[in-house]
Amino acid sequence: MNSGSFPEVRPRRLRATPALRRLVAETRIDPAQLVLPLFVRDDIVEPVPLQSMPGVLQHTFDSLRVAVTEAAEAGLGGVMLFGVPADSAKDAVGSGATDPDGVLNAATRVAMAEAGDALVVQTDLCLDEFTDHGHCGVLAPDGSIDNDATLERYRDMAVEQARAGSQLLGLSGMMDGQVAAVRAALDAEGFEQVAVLAYAAKYASAFYGPFREAVGSTLRGDRKTYQLDPANRREGLREALLDVAEGADIVMVKPAMSYLDLLADVSAAVPVPVWAYQVSGEYAMIEAAAANGWIDRERAILETLTSIRRAGADVVLTYWAVEVARSLKGL
Ligand code: PBG
Repeated sequence: MNSGSFPEVRPRRLRATPALRRLVAETRIDPAQLVLPLFVRDDIVEPVPLQSMPGVLQHTFDSLRVAVTEAAEAGLGGVMLFGVPADSAKDAVGSGATDPDGVLNAATRVAMAEAGDALVVQTDLCLDEFTDHGHCGVLAPDGSIDNDATLERYRDMAVEQARAGSQLLGLSGMMDGQVAAVRAALDAEGFEQVAVLAYAAKYASAFYGPFREAVGSTLRGDRKTYQLDPANRREGLREALLDVAEGADIVMVKPAMSYLDLLADVSAAVPVPVWAYQVSGEYAMIEAAAANGWIDRERAILETLTSIRRAGADVVLTYWAVEVARSLKGL
């Protein structure tokens, strides 16, 4: 008899072989739970590589078609489109955002034609790419962001994006009341079936740095009067609950890695899907460390995505979506 043997509990038993580990893994990543952000320009003839995001391109309409096809073949859940207008197309109110032929609306038509039913084409609904001052809203005479005037712009932008064929609008501007305003505008125009993804808890983050290069945006000032303070956890939850009450179909936490606590809070509290955005700076950090040989790139990427899923995200937006999906499928 060896009843007094020590230790009595041996959790390592389930870690002994790859097959056992695979069997008991709590968190899995499916390609359908990944969404690829894509940047599109209408003023270039060849795709432009982004210096601060190695491997990521600004697309032409032709290379967008290829990227959408690749995303569909990799089994991704969707693509999220960002328009990158020429500087000459930017103005104080972001007119390009509501121009049916503006870069984002034109790109949406192209992506929709290519995607069919294979994946969900989504669009960023925000003014910062289209304004010459780089803010997510229109400015009041004193230079502050005019929340309610911005909502009028978002309403018009939403309707144009829906007309262009977007199936899911990503509201990333962090204006108060934006979900209710956009929902009402869509419904009034007969777009009851177009869904709203609310960037409910979007923090004023240093990790958006490389994105500014990606969309060619130079920001005057900062976004701290509308994006959340990284110090605040309850406020992030409050924003998510408000967005659900206003009719959001999905809520997002952004960035991802530095906000896993919030992701856990939100996923425990809301009855809608919860997504997370692994942003440009999160991508750039790992690429830079890997390029220096300081980190095992593939393992680090998978570990971050697993952590984001484990914390509560149903779906993750990531610039590595196609690569990860292919490797999950053993391609
Ligand atoms: C706003 C928007 C931003 C990002 C996505 N949508 C920039 C910002 O709010 O400053 C950042 C995404 C990333 O960094 O990957 N339209």
